[in-house]
Amino acid sequence: MLGILLALSIVVWSLEVIATIPRHTLVSRYNPVRNASSSTTPMQVGNGFFAFGADVTGLQTFLPWAIMSDWAWKNDSLPVGMTSANITSYRGVVWDGVQYEFGGPADPQQWLISNPNRVNLGRIGLLFRDVHGQTLNVSEEDLKNIHQTLDLWSGTITSRFTYNGEAVTVQTYASQSTSAIALYVHSNLLQQGRLGVFLDFPWNDGSSKFQAPFVGYWNESDLHTTSLRVGDWLGENVHAQITHTEVASTFFTSIGGGDGFSISRDSPDEHRYSITPSSHSSETLSLTVAYSNDTTSIPIFSSVEAESIATWETYWTSGGFVDMVTGSADPRADELQRRIILSRYLMRINEAGHTPPQESGLTNTGWYGKFHMEMYFWHCAHWALWNDWDLLYRSLDVYSRFLPTSLQRAQIQEGFSTGARWSKMTDPSGRSAPGEINELLIWQQPHPLVFAEYEYRATQSRTTLEKWRNVLHATADWMSVYARKNTSTGFYDLAPPLYVVAEDTDPNATWNPAFELAYWRFGLGMAQTWMTRLGEDSPDAWGEVKEHLAPLPIENGTYVVYEGIESDFWTDPTFINDHPALVGLYGWLPQTSNVSIDIAKTTAEKVWQYWNISNCWGWDFGMLAMSAARNGDAEQAIEWLLHPLFQFDDVGMPIGGVRVPTPYFPGAGSLLYAIAMMAAGWDGSTAEAPGFPTQGWRVSVENISVAL
Ligand SMILES: *[C@@H]1O[C@H](CO)[C@@H](O)[C@H](O)[C@H]1NC(C)=O
Ligand SMILES: *[C@@H]1O[C@H](CO)[C@@H](O)[C@H](O)[C@H]1NC(C)=O
Ligand SMILES: *[C@@H]1O[C@H](CO)[C@@H](O)[C@H](O)[C@H]1NC(C)=O
Ligand SMILES: *[C@@H]1O[C@H](CO)[C@@H](O)[C@H](O)[C@H]1NC(C)=O
Ligand SMILES: *[C@@H]1O[C@H](CO)[C@@H](O)[C@H](O)[C@H]1NC(C)=O
Ligand SMILES: *[C@@H]1O[C@H](CO)[C@@H](O)[C@H](O)[C@H]1NC(C)=O
Ligand SMILES: *[C@@H]1O[C@H](CO)[C@@H](O)[C@H](O)[C@H]1NC(C)=O
Ligand SMILES: *[C@@H]1O[C@H](CO)[C@@H](O)[C@H](O)[C@H]1NC(C)=O
Ligand SMILES: *[C@@H]1O[C@H](CO)[C@@H](O)[C@H](O)[C@H]1NC(C)=O
Ligand SMILES: *[C@@H]1O[C@H](CO)[C@@H](O)[C@H](O)[C@H]1NC(C)=O
Ligand SMILES: *[C@@H]1O[C@H](CO)[C@@H](O)[C@H](O)[C@H]1NC(C)=O
Ligand SMILES: *[C@@H]1O[C@H](CO)[C@@H](O)[C@H](O)[C@H]1NC(C)=O
Repeated sequence: MLGILLALSIVVWSLEVIATIPRHTLVSRYNPVRNASSSTTPMQVGNGFFAFGADVTGLQTFLPWAIMSDWAWKNDSLPVGMTSANITSYRGVVWDGVQYEFGGPADPQQWLISNPNRVNLGRIGLLFRDVHGQTLNVSEEDLKNIHQTLDLWSGTITSRFTYNGEAVTVQTYASQSTSAIALYVHSNLLQQGRLGVFLDFPWNDGSSKFQAPFVGYWNESDLHTTSLRVGDWLGENVHAQITHTEVASTFFTSIGGGDGFSISRDSPDEHRYSITPSSHSSETLSLTVAYSNDTTSIPIFSSVEAESIATWETYWTSGGFVDMVTGSADPRADELQRRIILSRYLMRINEAGHTPPQESGLTNTGWYGKFHMEMYFWHCAHWALWNDWDLLYRSLDVYSRFLPTSLQRAQIQEGFSTGARWSKMTDPSGRSAPGEINELLIWQQPHPLVFAEYEYRATQSRTTLEKWRNVLHATADWMSVYARKNTSTGFYDLAPPLYVVAEDTDPNATWNPAFELAYWRFGLGMAQTWMTRLGEDSPDAWGEVKEHLAPLPIENGTYVVYEGIESDFWTDPTFINDHPALVGLYGWLPQTSNVSIDIAKTTAEKVWQYWNISNCWGWDFGMLAMSAARNGDAEQAIEWLLHPLFQFDDVGMPIGGVRVPTPYFPGAGSLLYAIAMMAAGWDGSTAEAPGFPTQGWRVSVENISVAL
């Protein structure tokens, strides 16, 4: 009996050894190391809805990297001459009888674009003092022997340096369940009373569309207020609390959770506070700083540390994993693996909040901190393929939350007979920021069908079918009435005014764009399938429109951006400098009926040749790789993912490139989506790792789902 058990356990054990990727080893291999602060990107800890950017001290001693969240937003005050009635009565323009929210009175429009805007919650740094307790002006050049590492497996930043010959170590963790940072400092300087911590608070406003690399203004202390309260009655583990008010929004910073300290405001004219450890006999200081929109209890240092270690380990061990370095001869595998591991880390910090992420995640601010519903695919669809449903679920109910405003947009504002039109540039209320492109873009519309389909594949449950029913019904309803019947051709047109993915065509001249037609057909078909699964009939209009959508525009043997585009558009800078979505209609999208694989391949190759690739950025490269992979050119797919204009810096931040600030996380999202597809395959693919070259690559895959 014992012998049989032993034999069995040996078999099981050896199977596991064969089957299991050495995840810890692979993750740790790419732990970032720095010996100086970067002037462009922080090292980060966080949890998806809250992130903390650190300089080389592990805090924000020298550089004011952001502390941002998915919940901290504010409105600017109304400009002189404007009342809230100007805001609520804003209507924009009427084009051909349809009301759109752009144009119209300029001031209310601009206010609605830049409000609400996202708030940088503050700054935490080390404070150096002389032996008399006087604050010293120390700069990074004064530090020696700097060595900083980020342990990806546990979410720990460890920063070591010496100052005046004394060693200092700082450990930084982010809470995984609240918006809090826990820090631990070890140094003799603490015993000498020469080291403390400061907190500071910026003014935030909507005066700039982009705020990068730093967010907020530190010189506008008159425009906002802070006040300090000290006492153990403030909340569990809370010893002090700073209330920060910007116009009508108030944020609380609670400090405690560790060793005793005293805290004081540096000057009544500023918002900087200094923390002095109570004990001069200890060479360690631990502290938790928690941010919230409500007074709260805070976790103690050791529980934040334990939670970070446990949560990150679960993330790395349970979700999807690809190993392409163990056993690949191709030297490119190492850099690709590095990008994957670091993207997996940073996406979990920046792109897993309760609303879709902004392009720069929680690192800095773009588009006033708002998010774009068409970009939600590139930010978050990879979570589905990598099986991180807990992270995707945080934001995925955005479609049911925004259903009322989207029904309103379609039916009340724009006068369609049925359905919901999803917004583009959006804030947590579901409001669409005014703008011609914001109002006229359409490729965000089928996205919920993709997310729903992935969820159904993962759960196979009736609950999933029912949960999405109303959202998908309203989505397809609007798609079916948006397509306009052309009485002379008998086809349903995607007709002006509209903006295509590339946002560079004249909206009044853009008919039947190729990518959008393919996506419409795919989406309506998916909606029909959903109703069939539920045992319901689909409205006839869905099938009628799907079967009679206008043909994909073809000229001279390739698909073209839209019907009627000038035939030499391939060499016209107007049309070849933005997203090359023509490669998306077979690659990113699966083959839809009416797409010819031969024409799609010829089109993709022509795009590679003619598009101004030096003006491509971010997710273009993931999309190009997906097209190459599906068209059977795995070598080219690898090349796109390692293109010189598609860069990830030393900590894995996706570089914005020619068009946008760094980081630009849709680049990382497209990398992870493309890698999942290339490694685990797509519907109908047969080879193992079908997107990778057969020579020189050995790709092991765990827990990644097949792409559409
Ligand atoms: C810091 O690291 C870089 C490489 O990452 C190296 O070139 C440089 O010499 C190092 N500087 C110091 C002061 O150690
Ligand atoms: C605080 O933010 C949360 C979302 O994180 C929200 O549900 C809650 O209503 C907010 N509370 C206040 C007082 O604004
Ligand atoms: C900003 O103002 C708008 C319009 O008045 C309002 O709906 C929204 O709740 C406000 N948001 C914040 C964060 O104050
Ligand atoms: C605000 O509304 C009032 C009343 O309609 C109007 O006179 C005024 O010009 C508006 N202000 C702005 C800045 O649009
Ligand atoms: C598009 O059409 C609308 C109204 O039909 C017009 O107001 C607008 O100026 C046109 N835009 C362009 C770029 O031609
Ligand atoms: C601190 O020193 C730096 C140079 O190292 C200088 O630029 C800065 O103005 C000083 N700040 C203060 C408050 O003295
Ligand atoms: C604060 O700095 C910004 C530039 O960063 C400047 O535009 C603004 O005028 C300054 N404000 C004050 C009060 O000095
Ligand atoms: C796949 O990942 C999910 C979530 O991360 C996890 O719950 C599940 O156990 C994993 N499955 C396998 C086979 O590892
Ligand atoms: C019908 O389609 C043709 C060819 O696409 C186009 O030229 C025409 O303008 C369309 N007619 C209407 C009424 O939209
Ligand atoms: C598109 O494919 C459908 C089959 O799904 C077919 O009925 C229809 O005629 C095709 N349309 C065109 C324009 O080729
Ligand atoms: C058709 O495509 C071929 C190959 O790209 C090109 O040589 C030719 O000039 C094109 N003809 C027209 C009319 O655009
Ligand atoms: C291609 O993009 C580069 C980089 O943005 C730009 O400088 C150049 O003018 C573009 N070329 C054309 C033909 O549009």
